[in-house]
Amino acid sequence: MSLLKRLGGGSPQPAEVAPAAAAVRPPTTAVAPPPEPPVAASATPVHAVTSTSAAVVEDPRPPTDIQRMLEMSLWVVDRIQASLGSQTELKRSPETERMLQERFARVYQQANVSLPDTAVKQLFTMVCDELMGFGPIQQLLNDDSISEVMVNGPNRIYIEQKGKLRLSDVRFASEEHVLKVIDRIIRPLGRRVDRKWPMVDARLPDGSRVNAIIPPCAIDGSTITIRKFSKNKLKVDDLIRFGSMTPEMAEFMRACVVSRLNIVVSGGTGSGKTTLLNVLSNFIPEDERIVTIEDSAELQLAQDHVVRLEAKPAEVDGSGRVAIRDLVINSLRMRPERVVIGECRGGETLDMLQAMNTGHDGSLTTLHANTPRDAIARMETMSMMAGMDMPLKVIREQIASAIDLIVQQTRLDDGQRKVSYITEVQGMEGETVVLQDIFKLEIISKSPEGKINAELRPTGVRPRFTPRLEAHNFRLPPNIFGAQIPGQKRSW
Ligand SMILES: Nc1ncnc2c1ncn2[C@@H]1O[C@H](COP(=O)(O)OP(=O)(O)OP(=O)(O)O)[C@@H](O)[C@H]1O
Ligand SMILES: [Mg+2]
Repeated sequence: MSLLKRLGGGSPQPAEVAPAAAAVRPPTTAVAPPPEPPVAASATPVHAVTSTSAAVVEDPRPPTDIQRMLEMSLWVVDRIQASLGSQTELKRSPETERMLQERFARVYQQANVSLPDTAVKQLFTMVCDELMGFGPIQQLLNDDSISEVMVNGPNRIYIEQKGKLRLSDVRFASEEHVLKVIDRIIRPLGRRVDRKWPMVDARLPDGSRVNAIIPPCAIDGSTITIRKFSKNKLKVDDLIRFGSMTPEMAEFMRACVVSRLNIVVSGGTGSGKTTLLNVLSNFIPEDERIVTIEDSAELQLAQDHVVRLEAKPAEVDGSGRVAIRDLVINSLRMRPERVVIGECRGGETLDMLQAMNTGHDGSLTTLHANTPRDAIARMETMSMMAGMDMPLKVIREQIASAIDLIVQQTRLDDGQRKVSYITEVQGMEGETVVLQDIFKLEIISKSPEGKINAELRPTGVRPRFTPRLEAHNFRLPPNIFGAQIPGQKRSW
């Protein structure tokens, strides 16, 4: 069978491959394809993942097959690029893929190696990913079961799959190779990264969030972190199905959103804050004008009347930065009925609290904290970052009167993500903000394999803001909050 047929393409057209045959000698240097089939009969796909803990010191992966295929793919890429002349920026399309199939077939034949069909297909995919995608990590980006990709230098690429971190078998050829991919990600956006300013935030064409940081700040090699954009954002029914919340908790939170309570979603990195904010924001009634403010647009609201604002990094000369804080201030002049702030990280917290206290209620945001009590402390610290020189007690009072509810999102050790607290902010008692848990996660047991058995339970306390819910026609039955009604079973 001809190589092109094996790749699923048409017949080769030798005239299209520009360089003379002499220029396409089988390689003899470090990037040479090996004389024997590099991945012959290998059962491990190049992008297979190896389960391991983050603390592994020894690299458990057999490097040879993967590295040989990588080197060979780069060797083929060099030849194809030479044949393309100045036309090196390729956009993925069926025509480009066909053109690459023909050139690949030609170069491969000249390399004079013989690989099994599966390896040839894999090699062609790697070549395409190199020329039209983001190199070795493209396979990981294509895999919908992977939610995060973390490149820690050329040799260690971690992924998050089903809530667990794993070391993948993917590698880059070198530090330069990683830099080349970073450049390919940020160049179309007019951004750059260099020794002078070695970090950058960007977004892939599909909306995935990317951060890259290179030496000298990244000590062990260029680092890329990609939070993949999930095409199908998790919906409230998904979160209930996963056991992240109970139907009662969902109904309670819907009532709180519709009744215009000010809600903070608190949680650690990657715990699911934005996902939950998205779910809560989708509870906002259709007829209200919503302004969303984000660092990098992640929210997907189903409502029609939504204005989406995104912060803007500084230009190359350092000017022109538009921060979340600027957008929060601006949004208040846009007649918002709801302001949804993707995440509060600094001084914008004070502007948000002031807005909530001056008639812009029903606002939603997230912040980084590990418990509802921590969330209060974090809001205090971030409000101080606004530089308004306010006494702590005044800031605390602003928090206590602005925020009605804190929803804590947690990623458990076994990878499950759950709402661990729904807590009412009741007000101040002396110097202290009074918090009352309404729902709480209780860890029941942990299996020898590490699987956590936990239950979400109401605490039995009805929130003090119940009359506000009732004013919006939500008459939640007492058993939602854990009250036992004679003859009726508890819902958990
Ligand atoms: N309840 C859940 N169950 C399962 N997966 C979830 C859940 N919530 C979020 N995820 C997944 O976890 C990943 C991280 O979610 P998300 O972006 O919402 O976290 P985050 O806390 O906002 O992260 P960051 O701190 O980086 O902003 C996503 O891939 C998302 O689809
Ligand atoms: Mg987030």
